Amino acid sequence: MNILMVCLGNICRSPLADGLLRHKVERDGLSARVDSAGTANYHVGGPPDERMTETAIQNGIDISVLRARQFEVADYDRFDLIYVMDKSNYHNVTRLARDEKDIEKVKLILDELGHSNSIQEVPDPYYGGQAGFDHVFDLLDRATDVIIEKLKYG
Ligand code: 4NP
Repeated sequence: MNILMVCLGNICRSPLADGLLRHKVERDGLSARVDSAGTANYHVGGPPDERMTETAIQNGIDISVLRARQFEVADYDRFDLIYVMDKSNYHNVTRLARDEKDIEKVKLILDELGHSNSIQEVPDPYYGGQAGFDHVFDLLDRATDVIIEKLKYG
């Protein structure tokens, strides 16, 4: 199973989702491949935002080696599942889809938390304070736990 995490800049939310899922895949000895990308090209080649890197490190996850890249159509061939953080990401990714099969691969990551979850989108923490980064960590930690359960038990 190849899984891609996508946000806008690929420096805050999707690198964390990538790092969390990679960490849990390795921890549990699973064979999934995990990567991340942004719909925009502003930060291509750069490291994750240092506030996100620091929040991750505080929680035992190292995302410092990741580098931003832009989502491209070929990602539809490389990945089985494409998790987006918000509806804007969903729109930007699916408008590059070539057919229904591509579109079916794209999911809002918080949909994995089920219908009891009141929030559908992972808020962009870029222009906010530390509480926003902590909130993103909590949401993505929970969502990646569900993804891991699905990888294990289908
Ligand atoms: P991300 O956050 O999509 O979670 O990586 C952002 C990072 C950078 C910008 C916007 C969102 N930006 O406008 O530069």
